[in-house]
Amino acid sequence: MILSLTPAADCCCDIGTDHGYLAAALAKRGGRVIAADVNAAPLASAARNLRRFGAANAETRLSDGFSAIAEGEAGCAVLAGMGGDLIRRVISAGIKGTKWLVLQPQSLVYELRGFLCESGFAIRDEALCREDGRFYTAMLVTRGRMSLGEAELRLGPALMAKRPPLFAPYVEDEMRKLRLALEKIRQNGADTENAAEYRRLLALYGGVLNGEAERNN
Ligand SMILES: C[S@@+](CC[C@H](N)C(=O)[O-])C[C@H]1O[C@@H](n2cnc3c(N)ncnc32)[C@H](O)[C@@H]1O
Repeated sequence: MILSLTPAADCCCDIGTDHGYLAAALAKRGGRVIAADVNAAPLASAARNLRRFGAANAETRLSDGFSAIAEGEAGCAVLAGMGGDLIRRVISAGIKGTKWLVLQPQSLVYELRGFLCESGFAIRDEALCREDGRFYTAMLVTRGRMSLGEAELRLGPALMAKRPPLFAPYVEDEMRKLRLALEKIRQNGADTENAAEYRRLLALYGGVLNGEAERNN
């Protein structure tokens, strides 16, 4: 999914590469690839895998975020499998003129989209997949202006616009988690503030599924 969202670039870096599998797949497509990680152990495993896959056009580089990437060196960077707060911190520290970012946050997706909106980034595309019953989203981001309503911040503006086949199951799964949380509150006693918020979100998501007005809500 991440590969399909990543634009071709003369040089692409995979920040937080870990095992280096994505870097190997990017290298196979062509262009120069930098498999970067802040920790030496994952970088060594990436180096092993890149050799194993014959990815001669990929190098490994010890780097905290973009710190060891030169200004303008990479046209594209992927930050995948990290928490949304870590992705936000890495972007805030500077992206060295990288035009395209492909982000695949494991958490705090709503907060990350909000941060991107406030920081002069725009989401150009999004993708969604499901593995072992869990949903994952990824987004293609570049500099630009973007104003999103709450449903778009929570469920993804491009996903809402494109409505891929997994979109309805994804929203239904989010609603299932909210109902579960409401049921826990019901069993454990009053937490009226959270319960009201969960009910509000259930109504919002139900509206999205039913195709009700969803921009700037
Ligand atoms: C869970 S792995 C994700 C691996 C891979 N990107 C994926 O999606 O499967 C997170 C990786 O990010 C690295 N990492 C954490 N903070 C980082 C930072 N500030 N800069 C670069 N890499 C970082 C960790 O060392 C780890 O290898």
